[in-house]
Amino acid sequence: METAVYDLTLDMERGIAAGAELLRAGELVAFPTETVYGLGANALSGEAVKKIFAAKGRPSDNPLIVHVCSVEMAREVAYVDERAEKYLAAFSPGPFSAVLKKKDCIPDEVTAGLSTVAVRFPVNKYAAALIAAAGVPIAAPSANASGRPSPTTAAHVLFDMAGRIPAILDGGECGVGVESTVCDLTGEHPVLLRPGAVTLEMLCEIDPLATLHSGLKEGDTPPSPGMKYRHYAPKAALTVVDTGSLMGDAAIINAGLNEACDAGKRTAVLCFAEDVGFFAGRKTLIMGRHTHPEEAAHSLFALLRELDGLGVEVAYARALPETGVGLAVMNRLKKAASGRVIDR
Ligand code: TXA
Ligand code: MG
Repeated sequence: METAVYDLTLDMERGIAAGAELLRAGELVAFPTETVYGLGANALSGEAVKKIFAAKGRPSDNPLIVHVCSVEMAREVAYVDERAEKYLAAFSPGPFSAVLKKKDCIPDEVTAGLSTVAVRFPVNKYAAALIAAAGVPIAAPSANASGRPSPTTAAHVLFDMAGRIPAILDGGECGVGVESTVCDLTGEHPVLLRPGAVTLEMLCEIDPLATLHSGLKEGDTPPSPGMKYRHYAPKAALTVVDTGSLMGDAAIINAGLNEACDAGKRTAVLCFAEDVGFFAGRKTLIMGRHTHPEEAAHSLFALLRELDGLGVEVAYARALPETGVGLAVMNRLKKAASGRVIDR
């Protein structure tokens, strides 16, 4: 299959029309959102949605997020009670997915048989225009091959999906860079299942009893089926170092890199702009400023892909404080490291 790429920044009308037509015909289209690129299919068609799992190589027990372009459309796919309405009003459109009780029009292929569905109203103008033009809700996971870092550019999508999907809509780089916050709104208080740019602190402003799911704290049973899968992993053996100080981190990282270099391995360090002086002579990939976690969110997935591109075999990353967006960055970084973390 030939994969067509439509540049929305040059001709939005043509790309959106082509994408919407494919979606209505039950085909797959990759499209930009403010978080990461999504791989969309008509959420009302089980047959169309099955193609997503095949193209990504994704396990079929991992449910998809349904993308809508209005709160009215959210009501067509899920039961939106008064409380859910409050959260949608606060965080939609935006990088926020609400887990709600699903309506019958959503097939089991989307929710992996669950009675709930994750609903998201993206703020990205291309995503919103595509959903509106298709006229149906769009089921979409991140548009990477299963296990790879989520794509934040059309080039990333093309690298993973060329020949596997009919079209990619190129809307430039994604702003946020990490996937949406997934928040379960079916219980008495909101439970954060996947941290993102809508932070725990922001949820607590609406309900001080909003909590982080225990699986995110200690690694017990995954509440969100996606939590149990291997994610984002670069080919390099990646270790996250979190001693609480730059000096402490640098000492451990440099010792580890020296050992890897002695063993003839190709190495790199993921660090912050302030840190580079501590890693003189090393291959450094800069995640942004340590004081600005949103910069690390924006750059992280592209840098994980770059590790592979450079053929790096052993890599270390410096940690961020797990507050605000830093929680989302650390969640993805630890997954990319398959849980290899050296802390104090
Ligand atoms: O930012 C995003 O959310 C991107 C863009 C494309 O919108 N999408 C995305 O989808 O990251 P995906 O499939 O890569 O991640 C969806 C996550 C998975 O961890 C999945 O297990 C969880 O949401 N999820 C989906 N439906 C759920 C449900 N009903 N209950 C609990 N978790 C659910
Ligand atoms: Mg994903």
